[in-house]
Amino acid sequence: MNKADFPILNETVHGRPLVYLDNAATSQKPQQVLDAIVEAYSRWNSNIHRGVHHLSQVATSKHEGARQAVADFINARSADEIVFTKGTTDSLNALAFSFGEAFIHEGDEIIVSGLEHHSNIVPWQMLCERKKAVLRHIPLQDDLSLNIEAFKGLLNEKTKLVSVAHVSNVLGTIQPVEEIIRLSHERGIPVCIDGAQSVPHMKVDVEVLDCDFLVFSGHKLYGPTGIGVLYGKREWLEKLPPHEGGGEMINHVRWEGTTYNELPYKFEAGTPNFVGSYALQKAIEYIESIGWEAIEAHERELTEYCEKQLKDVGCTVYSAGCKKAGVISFNMGTVHPFDVGTLLDQQGVAVRTGHHCAEPLIDEMGVPGTVRVSFGLYNDKEDVDRFIEALKKAQMMLM
Ligand code: ALA
Repeated sequence: MNKADFPILNETVHGRPLVYLDNAATSQKPQQVLDAIVEAYSRWNSNIHRGVHHLSQVATSKHEGARQAVADFINARSADEIVFTKGTTDSLNALAFSFGEAFIHEGDEIIVSGLEHHSNIVPWQMLCERKKAVLRHIPLQDDLSLNIEAFKGLLNEKTKLVSVAHVSNVLGTIQPVEEIIRLSHERGIPVCIDGAQSVPHMKVDVEVLDCDFLVFSGHKLYGPTGIGVLYGKREWLEKLPPHEGGGEMINHVRWEGTTYNELPYKFEAGTPNFVGSYALQKAIEYIESIGWEAIEAHERELTEYCEKQLKDVGCTVYSAGCKKAGVISFNMGTVHPFDVGTLLDQQGVAVRTGHHCAEPLIDEMGVPGTVRVSFGLYNDKEDVDRFIEALKKAQMMLM
């Protein structure tokens, strides 16, 4: 892994070299991604799908090339199954609105899990309120794993959709989504996988998973902010109505009514983020140049190394020893996580503290929040050592 590809990692924070361990919130960008953004604006910026002129055609082919690259990256059957959005939250809101319009009626049920990010709770709550439907959640067991037996009991003829995180953004634990998908499909229920925290850390193959929808963000994947993906199986996307109106998503507009564009354009109203999609493609190419095997092995080693040291200094590590994807949550005795995070920051170490936008899970854990360390492919053991050294200093001051 080449840290030198990521210019921001040369920054100092409070006079100390930056140790960036907040990758689950957003990852840093390699030079290749930064160059792509400059290239787009300085060489071929032009609105896409609208112009006969040269620049517009170049921009269109870059955007559509990026769509194909994303389809290949997650092994979608066709680029038409890739809808570009602003990010995971936007994808989930789009899906909740559109799926809700088509398929949710009074008394219907939607299932999420007890460890979801707010983005995979609130859009469904809003939908349930609009449609007088019911949101259920898979309860957690004492070890914070999903209670699959209870999930089986939740599935019934009123269940219309299951939407679960592949990896918990708080605990880093990898969820049994294959089993959830299989059990749901046995009853003909579609499943949406929130891949915000899995797609940046492991090979996610929609054909192998057989999920009906997959959502993720570009900015956690070493790509730019403001670009994300809603993957949907063609047979589902074709049945869903657009969630927004405007340019691009139409076929014809008449005063009598409007007909909608074909897939995936009916879900992309307005000028698409063609610079973002192009830069996301460069991020994907960067990941692929290293390869998933190397990235997964590297991050697994770092996670195990860090967990062990956290336990050695007496911290409580949540879901310790479970299979994780680059995220560790812990607390230092009863010290408030904000205090730990602030003292780490003063030593140049960036971590996230608090409820991590997953209040129901944090409530269930019975803590005010956690300190979260999350790795990217550029982190190394030296970063972990610097973090632990800073943590020991914080411990001396706070305990
Ligand atoms: N969803 C991001 C996180 O978990 C922001 O930090």
